[in-house]
Amino acid sequence: MKSHSLMPPKKWAVANWKQFGRREMARAWCGQLSAAASSCQVVVCPPLPYVSYLRGQLPLSVAVGAQDVSAAADDGAHTGEVGAAMLADVGCGYAIVGHSERRAMGEDDAACAAKLGAAAGAGLIPILCVGESLETRKSGAEAAVEFVTQQLDAALAGLPESTEYNNTNPPRLPLLVAYEPVWAIGSGEAAKVDDIVAMHAALYAQLYEKFDRIALLYGGSVSPSNIGELSQVDCVDGVLVGGASLEAGKFNQIVTALSS
Ligand code: PGA
Repeated sequence: MKSHSLMPPKKWAVANWKQFGRREMARAWCGQLSAAASSCQVVVCPPLPYVSYLRGQLPLSVAVGAQDVSAAADDGAHTGEVGAAMLADVGCGYAIVGHSERRAMGEDDAACAAKLGAAAGAGLIPILCVGESLETRKSGAEAAVEFVTQQLDAALAGLPESTEYNNTNPPRLPLLVAYEPVWAIGSGEAAKVDDIVAMHAALYAQLYEKFDRIALLYGGSVSPSNIGELSQVDCVDGVLVGGASLEAGKFNQIVTALSS
């Protein structure tokens, strides 16, 4: 039987800057990023105009990602869209897919599935975000698990066959899945560890048969004050950080905790 630990010992710290930052901030941030980043896989997802700039500033051991990607795999008349192949071309290794802030703007499960497929097809590692609303959480843990596992199921329909990942040597990482309860994002109130463990167990059970390599992240009000506890949780392979990732000092504390 496979153990939970399908990933190398490295943990993941993903910074999601959302619509924040300027070039000067990015320059200073890169200068201050902790050396511990070398023992933790750091992925920085800035607003698109700064992707190339960050790629030029950061060592190659630190990855750059996009916060979204076009659902259209092929180039075409898609005004305002940015294709996965373009992101790969300017040095992105990752793309966030299905963040709740984008779902709130109308992105549905079908779009998430298409984006997952487009990102994977261009060689990017998608970071798929799933998570329940406060209303769903209030109806109980079971309802939350059911909702989130359905979101995952729907999105996975867009990924190429699992065998394509498992048959490479070593098997390629098909995706990162970030459990981000909507009510925990930007609220200052992270999910309870027991609830994260229960949700990760359900997600893992869903992914386990299909893929040889899986990493499950947690996101939602991750900060220097709760990373100590989160970093000790076995089934948490890393974190997706919004607000606290904008300050290099705070993000460094998170990276350091995940590296120890
Ligand atoms: P937060 O955001 O850390 O500010 O809660 C997380 C996210 O939106 O990915």
